[in-house]
Amino acid sequence: MAKKTTLFSVKGIQMLLRRRKKRAVRETDVKISLRNVQKVFGEKKVLRGIDLDICKGESMVIIGGSGSGKSVLLKSIIGLLEPSRGSIKIDGSEVAHLSSRERNNMMHKFGVLFQGGALFDSLPVWKNIVFTSLQTKKYSKRDCYDLAISKLAQVGLGADVARLFPSELSGGMQKRVALARAIADDPEIIFFDEPTTGLDPIMSGVINDLIVKCSEELGATTFTITHDMRSAKKIADNIAMLYEGKMIWQGGVKDLNHSENEYVEQFINGRAKGPIQMKIKEE
Ligand SMILES: Nc1ncnc2c1ncn2[C@@H]1O[C@H](COP(=O)(O)OP(=O)(O)OP(=O)(O)O)[C@@H](O)[C@H]1O
Ligand SMILES: [Mg+2]
Repeated sequence: MAKKTTLFSVKGIQMLLRRRKKRAVRETDVKISLRNVQKVFGEKKVLRGIDLDICKGESMVIIGGSGSGKSVLLKSIIGLLEPSRGSIKIDGSEVAHLSSRERNNMMHKFGVLFQGGALFDSLPVWKNIVFTSLQTKKYSKRDCYDLAISKLAQVGLGADVARLFPSELSGGMQKRVALARAIADDPEIIFFDEPTTGLDPIMSGVINDLIVKCSEELGATTFTITHDMRSAKKIADNIAMLYEGKMIWQGGVKDLNHSENEYVEQFINGRAKGPIQMKIKEE
């Protein structure tokens, strides 16, 4: 069991008051709201009661070790997984148990950059980017192509990339294409699952800058999962740490380095020794 942050030091009380003040937001400012979200697979409790509020235009970053439930949380919010219990509200409406039709109607609000990029190997870059628009046939093929080119430009890639296939791109270019796809429909909320994993530090920096730029241009609310602390610090307004299916710490990005939470400190400093024990073998 994770220990709670000690709140009785003067610093702790000051921090709590600061956080309370920051969190004293109007209900209408909240874009995504989670209450007691649980997800169980058979005997395995992956999410054990998550409470989280993300305000409009806020960049929330979730950190946590491998297997702590980050991707399950993201998939539960976007509806790829149905939570076992709890409430997930987007713009004040409950979305935890929607029918597939209701969910499809809501999906236009989301852009998602999946862990690993998840581009379709058999489709050229431009069709990957405007995949949804091509499916809905709302726009002509020509308009879709032009939209793909403009999205490529937004992530710093030229039109020459449009007709290449994902296998012909470097890892960094694939991430940019995945980002172009995530922003293709001008979403209100963008989800990023490990956007910089597998990239060198310079390309990670480029992707981080693009995420900030594209989100600002759209005025989007963003939900990012990352192990990469440089990325977290660059992207985040607020950070929350997931450990064994629970949020064990939440705060502003500036509070991260003095969290007074031994789990957070071990994680952000990458120490092998501490309260977090890495499971080598799955139970
Ligand atoms: N569809 C599923 N069925 C059963 N168990 C699952 C399923 N999806 C995830 N899990 C389990 O849930 C746990 C959390 O997985 P998750 O993918 O959320 O981890 P994560 O925090 O994203 O890790 P990483 O940083 O390695 O991506 C893991 O033990 C995983 O095996
Ligand atoms: Mg994951």
